[in-house]
Amino acid sequence: MNKGLAIYPGSFDPPTNGHLDLMERGAKIFEELVVAILRNSEKSPMFSVAERLEMLRALTGHLDNVRIDTFDGLMVEYAKSMEAICILRGIRAISDYEYELQMALMNRKLEPTLETVFMMPADKYSYVSSRLVREVAQAGGPVKGLVPEIVEQRLREKLDPAYKFRDEPKEIVPEIVAGREKKRKKRA
Ligand code: PNS
Repeated sequence: MNKGLAIYPGSFDPPTNGHLDLMERGAKIFEELVVAILRNSEKSPMFSVAERLEMLRALTGHLDNVRIDTFDGLMVEYAKSMEAICILRGIRAISDYEYELQMALMNRKLEPTLETVFMMPADKYSYVSSRLVREVAQAGGPVKGLVPEIVEQRLREKLDPAYKFRDEPKEIVPEIVAGREKKRKKRA
């Protein structure tokens, strides 16, 4: 049993500044932190596991005691196979609590020797979630400051290589306006 090893599991689709903040905090208190991406998620992800792995590796390059891995099936089984004693999860607001409590208690039922530790990311990220980042980016909104630059770049490439994100939410890129106008005329 490795008393210094914690697992930080999640979907990370995509990784946000809140995730990174939590990894940096976790890296300070655990000897080793393994960030584990769920492979068999029911949701259809925006980024493949390989893409998320690559982004997370790039983002945590400065953290010597953080490793990135993937897992399948029950998280507690994976944690046990790694000989971890602890699961790290982030709680942003009270709204996260119910889901996290349920998950922590189910995990405890499945594997009583494994503890879940909750940490809070910086309050400036308390409203940031992967789901909202995807939603904003898909609608062409700015995600600067919500995700690390490399993720912002990947989102841009994924959604439309020709697309320029707006720094100002109200400012619309001329090519997009022209594109929308063309589509509107076609429909009419
Ligand atoms: O980032 P997410 O989507 O909130 O992470 C959820 C995750 C991956 C930690 C959770 O869904 C999980 O551990 N899934 C693996 C399957 C499992 O062990 N389910 C029982 C958890 S109560």
